[in-house]
Amino acid sequence: MGESLSKKVFKKILDSIQTGKRKKYVKVSSAHLSGISYLNIGDAGLEFLEDLSRSGLRFNVKTTINPGCVDFDLQRECDSEIFDKQRRIVKSLKALGAVESLTCTPYLFDNVIKKNQKVAWAESSAVLYANSILGARTNKEGSLTALSSAILGYTAGIGIHLKRGDKPELLFEYLEKLDNELDYGLLGYAMGLKAGVRIPYLSLKGNVKPCLPYLKQLLASFGTSGGAPIIWIEGVTPGFSRIPKPKEKVVLSRDDLEEVKRMLSEENLSFKNGKTVFITGCPHYSVEEIENLCNALNNVRRLSTEIWVFTSRAAYSRVFEKGLVKTLERKNVRLFKDSCVMYCSLRGSNIQVITNSVKAAYYLKNSFRLRTVLKSLGEFVETHGVE
Ligand code: F3S
Repeated sequence: MGESLSKKVFKKILDSIQTGKRKKYVKVSSAHLSGISYLNIGDAGLEFLEDLSRSGLRFNVKTTINPGCVDFDLQRECDSEIFDKQRRIVKSLKALGAVESLTCTPYLFDNVIKKNQKVAWAESSAVLYANSILGARTNKEGSLTALSSAILGYTAGIGIHLKRGDKPELLFEYLEKLDNELDYGLLGYAMGLKAGVRIPYLSLKGNVKPCLPYLKQLLASFGTSGGAPIIWIEGVTPGFSRIPKPKEKVVLSRDDLEEVKRMLSEENLSFKNGKTVFITGCPHYSVEEIENLCNALNNVRRLSTEIWVFTSRAAYSRVFEKGLVKTLERKNVRLFKDSCVMYCSLRGSNIQVITNSVKAAYYLKNSFRLRTVLKSLGEFVETHGVE
């Protein structure tokens, strides 16, 4: 990409947006980029980003980035070429002006947004959280459209940015009990399968207001199987009370949740074949979730199987200061930052995975071809905790 050419092209687009020749654009105040893991974008993506960073173009709005595939403090765990190439990707993005957030939960610390704020975010779990919990507005941007928005400060005025573009089209009712984070994840995935690209409205039994960790699982797994950028959750989503419920209704039951479990989870793992780990933190754990994990392990001296927790740099440094990293290590829990659960050392390994995240199970099974079992954290601790 020649320096003058890319700058000229973007300048021309920006001029035509600002002079009103292209009316169908919306000004955004922040961008969040996905597609930055070397394991996803490979050499072609790396080259593209390095060229872009040399072109002289810079981001015009606050821009955060998704996790990559390595923890930059754990170099020995990864193939050195992958480690180096991931470092070059991040270096290019920083040169373009990105915040080195390396997380799929930018809304917690690095890119905090408010109700009605218009943004251009990729990473489906963050998009669904931004719209459904915070009341901000973003479409489910792709990696390249979010990158263009970061440079231009505008996104296409389509989808959720249109008048009534956030209107729910399908009512979901779930009238049974949801016991834990895994149940919420299974429900989200089942909803996505039925909704397709239609925007859902969710009504839960007794109008319960689930805690944020449960909502994160619901939204992330919905974003894995469905196409809509928002779920209107009764009692939760800002402005839900003025939204008319859709007429078309789908009632989901425990059978639908069990069906998803059968699709993504092996019946059982053979503990004789290679290492097994429990993976959690998809989406990245918040400080609160790490504290909850510590509490769940209060009565456990040590775990017989390792837990791998994925989190953001920002959350890691806070729990490190509180001494929780060391406490967890003593119990056989490792914390990783900077990386997605699609971690470098898992690819091509024969590690068997137990996870409480439906989204993690989907990708580890389908992209990394790992054997995966879905279990809630509580269920795992009960069977693998040594008192
Ligand atoms: Fe985050 Fe990777 Fe899961 S980006 S949501 S940890 S698949």
